[in-house]
Parts: sequence; structure tokens; C-alpha cells
Amino acid sequence: TRVDKGGHKHFMAKEIAEQPGVIGQALSHYVTDAGEIILPDGGVDFTKIDRITMVACGTAFYACLVAKYWFEQVARIPVEVDVASEFRYREPPIPANTLALFVSQSGETADTLAALRYCDGKAQRTLSVINVPESSIARESDLSLPIYAGVEVGVASTKAFTCQLTVLILLVLKAAHARGEMDDAKLADHISALRGLPSIINTALEQNETMREAAFKLSAARDVLFLGRGKMYPLALEGALKLKEISYIHAEAYASGELKHGPIALVDEDVPVIVMAPRDALFDKTVSNMQEVMARNGKVILISDAEGLAEASNGVWSTIEMPKVADLLTPILYAIPAQLLAYHTAVAKGTDVDQPRNLAKSVTVE
Ligand code: G6P
Repeated sequence: TRVDKGGHKHFMAKEIAEQPGVIGQALSHYVTDAGEIILPDGGVDFTKIDRITMVACGTAFYACLVAKYWFEQVARIPVEVDVASEFRYREPPIPANTLALFVSQSGETADTLAALRYCDGKAQRTLSVINVPESSIARESDLSLPIYAGVEVGVASTKAFTCQLTVLILLVLKAAHARGEMDDAKLADHISALRGLPSIINTALEQNETMREAAFKLSAARDVLFLGRGKMYPLALEGALKLKEISYIHAEAYASGELKHGPIALVDEDVPVIVMAPRDALFDKTVSNMQEVMARNGKVILISDAEGLAEASNGVWSTIEMPKVADLLTPILYAIPAQLLAYHTAVAKGTDVDQPRNLAKSVTVE
């Protein structure tokens, strides 16, 4: 398939803009009009699973970290997550009734494929969440779930990440329902929230100009810190990864609660700190960490919803307002500012957004 930039300056910008559409596509492939989640080939019997091991690299690994929160909190299934390059050489014991789940955009990442083969060799049931249906990982896993993101050209993954999350949350809901952790009414609520997600993401994309202005300020920084708690921690990691990949600014992410255990030593007026904090159960905790940063003259960019900003934006450097979304879905929505801040920072610095130096779209050698 030939793909062009569709009027955008970069493939990355186009792929960011495509997200409402492709997430809608992914949902329509797995959810019936009646709101039932259908997995191909008989799916997975989640009542027979005691634990899940998730393995991936890069951005797909962060999708796994989000899924761990979801699976554990919503479906009450313990989850272990590891990067493929560590998993494959650790030769981890895999207890019976483990589901081994691999996430990969390309389906060709060498380490992820090796990890899959390791689990296959241990007679584990393997499941993959991939974007390229004819890929090695898709072919070699027992069951493979396409994310329907369409061709992704930009080296820094964007729409594949949010589509991975979309398919993963469907798996989580399916598991929670099958295991009796969620009743029909609650499931229906979540499905209807998911159906509203594309339009909420469109609203987030309308904040483009605010993010461009914040990114312009970021482009002068040498180091940037990202903070988040709970299911926002993987989003902080993703925001830092995107920023370093394409703007070459050193960026690190920390779970907010770890701030005191090291990174606060780096904070001064030259270090922007990006705080990802929807108004959820952990909001107050994150805000108190943010105030510790501000007490040391750190420059905070607070990303939250209207309610959160009204409560906590006093004295911050910049704010980015996200629309309100169902609590479970905040990781998908907050991918938008993670991506757009990196994108606009890279554009402001004049780096090669779609083909950053030293990086490859698909890492097929070790
Ligand atoms: C490379 C890409 C990343 C991607 C990672 C994993 O590092 O630049 O965007 O997240 O590989 O790739 P996969 O195809 O397995 O998702």
C-alpha cells in the first residue's frame, strides 16, 4: 500500500490526527452493535487463567504497563510485564495456566519474537496484539489480535500505541466480565464510554495550539522530567520516550511517588517538569509531588482536566486542558499530549521527526 502524508507536514502528524478514526475502526472490529466483545477463533477462556505475562519493546512495552494496571484492578488477574530483551535471557519459570501476551506494532521485533518462541517452547498459550497481521509474531502465536491502526510510517509510534491500548482494554473488559468481576450493566457502561472515545480524542486534538506553545518553551530545555502515578505512570514514560526519540532532549519519567528518591535532586528553574494528572483518585497525591517541584523553582506543565486545573494550576508554568473522560480510559486520552508535545518540540528544534537519527521503525536484529 502506498501511503502519503495526506496534507500533513509529517507522517507523525498525520498518524496522530488519524487516531479518532482508527480507534473507532478497532472498536468496530471487536464490538458488536449489541455491545458484545467478540474475539476471533474462540478467543481466550479467561476463567482458566491464573496469571498473565506480557512482553514487548519500546512503546508497545508501555502499552503493556498500562494493561497491567487494567488487568489487575479491573479483572483481578496478576500480571507480570517485561521488556523482551530481558525476558528472553532470564529464562523465567512459567507456571501452568499463564497466558503469555506479546504486543508489537510490526510483529517482527527480534527480541519479542524470541520471547514468544521461548514461551511456545514451554507449551504456553500465546496471544499477540499486533498491527501487521501477516507478521512473524502474528503467525507464530496461538491467537493473534490485529489492532487495525493501518500502516504506521513515523518511526515514533503513535496511533499503534492508542490502538494497542484499545484492544487491550477490550481484553480486560472481556476477562473481567468472564470472571464475574464485572456485571452486564457495568460492561455496557464501559463499552459506551469507549464508543465516545474517538470524539473525546478529537476534542483533545483541538488543543494543538496550546501544546505547540508549551512545546516551544520546552524546546529550549536540556533535560525534562515527566511525572505520573498509577496508570498515568506509563504515560509519563511514553511522553519521555517520544520526546527523547524525536527532539533529542534528555527526558526521564518517574512515578511521582519516587520523586523524593532521586530525581528531585535535579530540579531547578532550568528543568521543566511535565505532570500528567487527570482528576482521579490519585490526583491529590500527584499534586503534592508537583508542589514539591514548584517549591524548588521547577517549571511545571500540568496536564489535567478542567476540574483538576481549577484546583491545582496556581503557580504552574503552563497548563494543557484535556477533556473529561471515563477514568479507565485516561491512558488512551493522555497519549495525545504525550505525542503532540514531543512532535511540536521536535518541529521547533528542526529535527527529522519521521526519521530520527539512529532509530529504526522495526528492530529485526538483536
Ligand atoms: C522500535 C520503534 C518503536 C517501537 C519499538 C517496538 O524501537 O522505533 O516505535 O515501539 O521498536 O516495535 P514493535 O514493532 O515491536 O511494536
